Amino acid sequence: MLEGKTIVLGVTGSIAAYKAVDIANQLSRAGVNVDVVMTKEATKFVAPLSFRALTGRAAVIDMFDASSEFNITHISLAGAANVVVIAPATANIIAKLAAGIADDVLSCTVLATTAPVVIAPAMDVNMYENPVTQENVSKLKERGFIFVGPRFGKLASGKEGLGRLANTEEIIGVISQVLGRSGYVPGSFADRHAVVTAGSTQEFIDPVRIISNRSSGKMGYALAEAVRDRGAKVTLITGPTLLTKPVGVEVIDVCTAEEMFQAVKNAVPRADVLIMAAAVADYRPKSTAKEKIKKKGTGLTLELERTTDILSEVKGDFIKVGFAAESENLVGNATQKLQQKGLDLIVANDITAKDSGFGADSNQVTIIDREGKVDSLPLLPKREVAEKILDKVAAILSKRQNDMNSVEIAVTRSHIKDNSNVHIPKERWDLFPDFYTKIELRTDENIIQRIFNPKYHEFALGEWFKAYQVKEGDIVRITPIEGKEKYRVEFLKK
Ligand code: CTP
Repeated sequence: MLEGKTIVLGVTGSIAAYKAVDIANQLSRAGVNVDVVMTKEATKFVAPLSFRALTGRAAVIDMFDASSEFNITHISLAGAANVVVIAPATANIIAKLAAGIADDVLSCTVLATTAPVVIAPAMDVNMYENPVTQENVSKLKERGFIFVGPRFGKLASGKEGLGRLANTEEIIGVISQVLGRSGYVPGSFADRHAVVTAGSTQEFIDPVRIISNRSSGKMGYALAEAVRDRGAKVTLITGPTLLTKPVGVEVIDVCTAEEMFQAVKNAVPRADVLIMAAAVADYRPKSTAKEKIKKKGTGLTLELERTTDILSEVKGDFIKVGFAAESENLVGNATQKLQQKGLDLIVANDITAKDSGFGADSNQVTIIDREGKVDSLPLLPKREVAEKILDKVAAILSKRQNDMNSVEIAVTRSHIKDNSNVHIPKERWDLFPDFYTKIELRTDENIIQRIFNPKYHEFALGEWFKAYQVKEGDIVRITPIEGKEKYRVEFLKK
């Protein structure tokens, strides 16, 4: 997602400016063209040469630098950027941006860009918590600026509080997510919602003993990060693991199979895809002892009962992907699971294979689809396995979309400026009622109702154009999801 992209990294005058060197370095290493723009104050904390050495491009400081390779510097930078990131961002730059002041290259670039802007504040806690800063932050958030951090911790002043720059991984995670969201490309999950489960569940025998499965959670976490980087809204439902929680993802921690079942059940009504990578315990003790069971005699008999089979139980119009951990007859057993659990795809792994499966960073899997197509992949890093799975999910999603006969309408200036109605073209009138009726339109987050008049075939979407920052040239896709009563509305960015 990062490779080949152009990112303007704005650096302002905070003690955390030295951390921007690491951000520039990591972005560069990931194949990003990084244009660093520094305020004069930032140059007091860190030398422009550090950035030049790491990015291979001179940091831009002076708006009127005759030697600059850019033609009208801020306009060129603003136009070339896929994302503008300001890290660290001081209270001063935040105030300037909120007020529209443009008095240096960075503030001019932000004012001139149409790319998403990510802001990572770093400042003293009192400055951050000051109502005027809070008001500026809220204003910018309302206008679609994306904030990451600040984090709580020890500050340069010696005080503890909210004001530390978010860490590099977190900032780069948010940049990846933003890049995945902007631009609609094949395989993209922009405007999609993915629910991913990971890790294993734990069923308690007593307060200290559990029944569990072997699973590091790495495959599920790789999937959550990969689908996030393709622009999806992600809910990761995870059993206990030792892994770092991915950023830009809603994480729901669960412990038992029952808790995972409830969390999945709550999340899927909004989902386009459910990927169950978790190793869910099939059995739990019929009862859990309140106190630690003391050892006595030579053995212990536990009575177990079945847990809910989550994949089989949850139903809806989302795509279901399961995993199958098999030690024999891989394709046969996995195909049987696919059919029994009503899946669209099953990812089978041979748990006896070397360097694959439990705890490993790589995995060798065979992906089987509903039509019986078997795709055996070589041993790959788990992130690459995740990408292969997502390619297949994206293909199913787009086929469904076509089969469903959505209608796509390009957004015009008058839709946005004059709040004029969205008109359904004649060739798609078949998707809408032919009588005067109430219809429901929904996105992942919102539902609105409209009275549909078959004489006009149009309705207002102005409030959503504002809320979702829809711009001229973006596409509104409207898909019937329940007869001619309920429609899914998606905004595909230009
Ligand atoms: N799964 C589930 N709920 C369960 C058990 C498993 O949703 N209670 C899901 C897993 O997340 C996985 C798929 O079902 O995606 C297959 O899991 P696996 O353990 O391979 O198979 P089981 O159905 O448990 O069958 P068996 O243990 O008999 O092989």
